[in-house]
Amino acid sequence: MRFISKVAGLAMFLLLITVACGGGSSPSSSDAPGSGGASEPVAAELKSVSETSPEEVKAFGKATARVFVCNGCHTVDGVGAAGPTWLGLFGKEETLEDGTTVIVDEAYLRESILDPNAKIVKDFPADVMPADFAERLSDSQLDLLIEYIKVLK
Ligand code: HEC
Repeated sequence: MRFISKVAGLAMFLLLITVACGGGSSPSSSDAPGSGGASEPVAAELKSVSETSPEEVKAFGKATARVFVCNGCHTVDGVGAAGPTWLGLFGKEETLEDGTTVIVDEAYLRESILDPNAKIVKDFPADVMPADFAERLSDSQLDLLIEYIKVLK
């Protein structure tokens, strides 16, 4: 557990660095302080979210959800909280407050995060989820959160 959170913390740090540096390729060997070696694969794996394993998506996604406090309202264990659980969300048929249904795909997740009031989930209130994530999330953080929700089956 401690190892996982350490890796996730390091990954978040590297992700921020990558974003801050405009995503360019960074020096590969000289920037690892101390034990070296161990951080290189992590950096390499972060280059593309789509090439990251489900375990890594979970670790990094969980860390990102904590940074933005999504986990204050969304559980990943099937229990509803202030917001709907993320467990089993991807691919399911979601019922909206007006009685219509929508299949949860990437486009729906993206819209739900960036524009929460566009579609309101049945039995949950509007205007509770913060509506400013479009400004606060980087593209890679948004992609990661979507990939994270996708692997929570
Ligand atoms: C203050 C509570 C709160 C926070 C923080 C919050 N949400 Fe939500 N979220 C909600 C509520 C309430 C709903 C259901 C109402 C709606 O559809 O907007 C919701 C709906 C969603 C849905 C659609 C769920 C479904 O069942 O269709 C997604 C996806 C989602 N949130 C992602 C996120 C992500 C990602 C974050 C963090 C970046 C986040 N939320 C932060 C309260 C929150």
